[in-house]
Amino acid sequence: MKLSISIVYFVLISPYLLLMDSKHDVYIYSARDKKCDVLFHHVFINPVRVYSIQNSFYILQSNSKVSKLDAELCLTDLFQLKFKCQQLLSAVQGELFTILSDDYSTIAVWHTKLAKLSYISIAQNHIMENNGQIKEIRCLQNFLLVYYQNKYLRLWNLDNKSELLQLGNASMYSVCQNRIGKYYNNSLMLFDMTHRLRGEIKLECKCDHLCLNEDGRYILVTNVEHCLLFMYRVDDGKQIAKLFVQNMTGTIKASKDYVVLTLTNHTLYVLMIADPKINGVREKINTLPSR
Ligand SMILES: *[C@@H]1O[C@H](CO)[C@@H](O)[C@H](O)[C@H]1NC(C)=O
Ligand SMILES: *[C@@H]1O[C@H](CO)[C@@H](O)[C@H](O)[C@H]1NC(C)=O
Ligand SMILES: *[C@@H]1O[C@H](CO)[C@@H](O)[C@H](O)[C@H]1NC(C)=O
Ligand SMILES: *[C@@H]1O[C@H](CO)[C@@H](O)[C@H](O)[C@H]1NC(C)=O
Ligand SMILES: *[C@@H]1O[C@H](CO)[C@@H](O)[C@H](O)[C@H]1NC(C)=O
Repeated sequence: MKLSISIVYFVLISPYLLLMDSKHDVYIYSARDKKCDVLFHHVFINPVRVYSIQNSFYILQSNSKVSKLDAELCLTDLFQLKFKCQQLLSAVQGELFTILSDDYSTIAVWHTKLAKLSYISIAQNHIMENNGQIKEIRCLQNFLLVYYQNKYLRLWNLDNKSELLQLGNASMYSVCQNRIGKYYNNSLMLFDMTHRLRGEIKLECKCDHLCLNEDGRYILVTNVEHCLLFMYRVDDGKQIAKLFVQNMTGTIKASKDYVVLTLTNHTLYVLMIADPKINGVREKINTLPSR
């Protein structure tokens, strides 16, 4: 479909495709029919952040209001936060929607299934500690990952608030389940917070993009200059693929079984993850249509 809006954010939840433009206009299209009618359109006066959790969209507005757009596309206001959040620092993990206050003193956690809001007070010095402005936050199962404007990464244990882990500098990072991959100075660091493991992979060349796949088993790295895509197994750090892909932009996304790359001619390049160590790879490959 061809659209005449400049998209700054999109999310797909079957059967809908939600798009947001730079003026905070939110549009929803049907992802199933090709007619491309707008099923929903709402102009938000304030900047917003949109997330999808199960069958609903959750919208955080910079005036501290949180709304929900359900599967019937009915927009309802859920609650008003008791703090300012003009920076829209927020993240989702499973059924939890987490929002950090602008003064970094409080986290609000909305449990979407129980429809329950709780506030966690945080010692300000914990998260601030010389690193200045926070750029974004991410949630792992029981950790809050904080990424600062100066590209420093820190992890805070929500189950044991006195534990704060320093992950060091990161030019970029990727999070999935309880795993984190970060890139800095030609090396890739991997962290598994469930087993408290960490590993390092020395890269052959510069990393332009990195991405953990959906189940956190593999990490993918692209290098645009040499048109290379690398795939590593997180469990043992072994390289299991190195592919030459011409005309890639470097942007990469990976589900449990597939990797999607964008090419400079606006086409998508889809690859299947085939790990020789995993049983049934042959069978999986045989199910693919021939080219
Ligand atoms: C909480 O974290 C602190 C600091 O890392 C540690 O000393 C303490 O043993 C932890 N407590 C529990 C219950 O794990
Ligand atoms: C991290 O980055 C800062 C600059 O932002 C630099 O001064 C510092 O040396 C870096 N630390 C490491 C371990 O590379
Ligand atoms: C980058 O890595 C190299 C070799 O591993 C090391 O010598 C250098 O000090 C590192 N630079 C920074 C800024 O950490
Ligand atoms: C694709 O790459 C080739 C070789 O690097 C180049 O000649 C060509 O112009 C590229 N095509 C596009 C659409 O960028
Ligand atoms: C885009 O580029 C890729 C590889 O460079 C090529 O295989 C594909 O046919 C191109 N698609 C279009 C629509 O030009």
